[in-house]
Amino acid sequence: MAPPTPFTLKDPELFKDQSYVGGKWVEAASGARFDIVDPGSGKVWASAPDNSEADVDMAVRAANTAFESYRKESSRQRARWLLNWDALIRENKDDIATILTYETGKPIAEAHGEIDYALSFTWWFAGEAERIFGTVHQASQNGRRVFTIKQPIGVAVALVPWNFPIAMILRKASAALAAGCTMVIKPSPETPLSVLTLAHLATKAGFPPGCLSVLTTSLANTPSLSEKLCRHPLVHKITFTGSTRVGKLIARICADGLKKVTLELGGNCPYIIFDDANLDQALEGLLLLKWRHAGQACVSANRVYVQSGVYEKFAEMVRERTSKIVVGHGAEKDTTMGPVTTPQSLEKVAAQVEDAVSRGARVLHGGQRVDRPGYFFQPTIIADATDKMRLSQEETFGPILAMYKFETEAEVVRMANDTSMGLASYFFTKNVDRTWRLLENLEAGMIGMNTGNQSAGESPFGGIKESGYGKESGKDVAVAEYVITKTGTLTVDEHF
Ligand code: SIN
Repeated sequence: MAPPTPFTLKDPELFKDQSYVGGKWVEAASGARFDIVDPGSGKVWASAPDNSEADVDMAVRAANTAFESYRKESSRQRARWLLNWDALIRENKDDIATILTYETGKPIAEAHGEIDYALSFTWWFAGEAERIFGTVHQASQNGRRVFTIKQPIGVAVALVPWNFPIAMILRKASAALAAGCTMVIKPSPETPLSVLTLAHLATKAGFPPGCLSVLTTSLANTPSLSEKLCRHPLVHKITFTGSTRVGKLIARICADGLKKVTLELGGNCPYIIFDDANLDQALEGLLLLKWRHAGQACVSANRVYVQSGVYEKFAEMVRERTSKIVVGHGAEKDTTMGPVTTPQSLEKVAAQVEDAVSRGARVLHGGQRVDRPGYFFQPTIIADATDKMRLSQEETFGPILAMYKFETEAEVVRMANDTSMGLASYFFTKNVDRTWRLLENLEAGMIGMNTGNQSAGESPFGGIKESGYGKESGKDVAVAEYVITKTGTLTVDEHF
């Protein structure tokens, strides 16, 4: 049994700890619940229904019933509901940020930052709702008219991670709702409550029951429940953000039903600094990108390549600023870096540091767990990293900043692309010819040029290679993931 919440909300109604199906707050059919742990203390502070395969059919059917009428709502009505939702989330930002901090561990200021970022999606897709266009074609034969119309694909399922639960939901659900689809969300077992709060506010905003359902579940039930959702005949679209390993499994399962899939998977992102870069600009971009949520972002800088002429100087700049980071519970006022969200992440970063040191890397800062309850690791800077180290070959997803020295552009492009992943790449240079070359030569779906921050409502988000396929956010491409294109051909008697 979970204890009372460790915080007081301005609006206690926002704390929801039941699943939300077809507009009703419900328990799992089995009555089972699972615990939610505060990563900043290691203590259980809440619980949620542990749904299983047995609970899937009802949720999907409710979403499908809702779809039959929601698809007929005007695009302006959908836009209005999205804007109402946007306004309600803005009004309740403080409470949502508090829940987010206790679920993910991120500092309260970062939780606010995530919500602001996430609201770029509700706002953006409210506009997109009214701008979904078909096409009219020049027919190759007289007496013919050829055109296309766009229609919502049907019930969509979102399988979402714990690192940015508000942003991921608003990016996916706003696109789906704008297109006229309904959605069943399976949140991560670490972060179900912030997602339930969003569902509550969606209903207050006016979305009819069943438009947005949330099926919470434990880690143990996640694979079977997710598979059941992916195989359900009334589900026509799956959108997943998470690891490449799980993304491949989902793609295989969805291939059986030929379901339309968006996969936003892992990154192993290079961040490249040339001798001619503005080092202050490169530093600010890096600190924000790398230490955000203790490095637990798929777009985080995993491999920081610095040209030899500025390598030692830049390493010292990074060390000096990193030494000022205050590690602590996300709800503590002075904290600038929280814990990692899961004990598994703690194991992984510790193992990566050990491996790097055993292969000759220097630890410029940190390198140890922090001795306090919860899942804390020091912000860690590794210098002289090489491609043989684990942290070069796999996504760290934790507070390790690994630096590599390079000499030439050709060498760094080869190193940057030497990964199966292709989510984001970043580089800093003042050379305009090089800027164009790198934009074209780096293998990633998103290229940050003199910036470490490229995510926004208007920017298509998504990777290439084993970082997945499909785009979220941005003009046309994101809504395209939730619509079908129907071709109409009409014979016209042109004589009268
Ligand atoms: C992610 O790391 O999964 C998403 C980060 C972003 O949206 O910028």
